[in-house]
Amino acid sequence: MGRVLASASVSTSGDAVAARAAVAELDDALRRHTADEEETLIPAPASGRLVPSAGETDRERLGRELRLEHVQIREIVGMMRRLVEEKDDVAGVRGLFGGLARRWDAHVEREVRELARGDA
Ligand SMILES: [Fe+2]
Repeated sequence: MGRVLASASVSTSGDAVAARAAVAELDDALRRHTADEEETLIPAPASGRLVPSAGETDRERLGRELRLEHVQIREIVGMMRRLVEEKDDVAGVRGLFGGLARRWDAHVEREVRELARGDA
């Protein structure tokens, strides 16, 4: 994320190339990271999908909501990737960065706090 922010902070054509590489790397790494968490760490939702189901436990709800947050975060990074790859829109990437960083921080903090507690 630091490389994305650094490369998106200066909008010369050279930095568009750096931003494209940094965003692609972030997108790929984020997809691997979230897939790994979903396989090994995050409880499966009762329905197997991201919609609430009747009788879901607190732990199943937590798993479903964390998976939904992954989808939302991957969507933002995917949007960044399309902006920079299809339109060289580094300013667009920069505009999405603050929201991404806030969502990411809140998500990680919640994973640490609620998954580690283990009693959800
Ligand atoms: Fe996560």
